[in-house]
Amino acid sequence: MGLRVMVIGGSGQVGSELVRSLLTVHGVEDVYAPASQELDLSLRNSVIDAVAQMKPDWIFHAGAWTQVDECEDDPDRAFRINGLGTRFVVQAAEIVRARVCYLSTDYVFDGSSNRPYREWDPVGPKTVYGASKLAGEREVRPEDLVVRTSWVMGEFGHNMAKTLIRLAKAGERHRFVDDQIGTPTVVSDLVTALIELFSGDHSGVFHVSNSGQASWYDVARHVFEFLGEDPERITSVSTSELTGYKAPRPKYSVLDNFALRGSGVKELPPWRDSVAALVSKLTGG
Ligand SMILES: NC(=O)c1ccc[n+]([C@@H]2O[C@H](COP(=O)([O-])OP(=O)(O)OC[C@H]3O[C@@H](n4cnc5c(N)ncnc54)[C@H](OP(=O)(O)O)[C@@H]3O)[C@@H](O)[C@H]2O)c1
Repeated sequence: MGLRVMVIGGSGQVGSELVRSLLTVHGVEDVYAPASQELDLSLRNSVIDAVAQMKPDWIFHAGAWTQVDECEDDPDRAFRINGLGTRFVVQAAEIVRARVCYLSTDYVFDGSSNRPYREWDPVGPKTVYGASKLAGEREVRPEDLVVRTSWVMGEFGHNMAKTLIRLAKAGERHRFVDDQIGTPTVVSDLVTALIELFSGDHSGVFHVSNSGQASWYDVARHVFEFLGEDPERITSVSTSELTGYKAPRPKYSVLDNFALRGSGVKELPPWRDSVAALVSKLTGG
């Protein structure tokens, strides 16, 4: 019999692409992505019942409250959905004997490093969102997967790639920070790695991002250049000059994909190539 797979957060950026890709994976018989009303992470019975009904073999848990600034205003909600919700997912998985892959974030780190973070580096979230995602990490079992990723952009949902295309088309000038360093991760590459990790029976914590590093200023200029727009319309600004963000952004959150590399799983392409390919797809190229 083929594999039954549940995707939690299936309407999100990552979840939507996961559902689309899983449907083409050899050996996957059924893919089910319950809406958040049907499987509400903040309600234990809702999670247990939805999982019991499907009896999946695999659960990709990509559901989360991801509004980083709003989480600062309502920590209880953040911990209920991201932390406790993940406990419920794992409890439900235990009942039906499913394995779980939990999506996590570079925000679990404090952002003060000057070299890429490895999977075992000390965590120290500076935001409610990061702390609540870390709470979720602590709920998974040794046989499960935790995949930390960063700066996600893909075909579904809102993201920086789409914002930059809009700005480019509108002929606008814009300022982007040049003192937050991380790595963009294109969802199609991330999803390929997630499926490979699950299919290969891997477990434990993995960092999965495209390779290389950048500031948002670098990303913006790259997209403008790729679209044939004048990159000089992008100017730099420092984080301290910006107001309006409740949650501090990590200064440095490059993830070293050490475990991926060492486990023989294919590493993700350089971010410049993948972001260009995404922008090309989004603009009908
Ligand atoms: N985006 C990034 O840059 C980034 C970076 C690092 C890690 N991550 C992690 O990657 C994962 C996927 O992120 P994403 O960008 O795809 O997020 P997203 O687009 O915001 O999607 C979040 C998903 O979670 C669902 N959800 C929210 N509250 C829920 C609840 N109470 N019960 C059930 N489902 C609920 C949403 O459903 P509704 O649409 O119905 O609300 C949606 O399907 C998350 O774990 C996130 O922490 C994201």
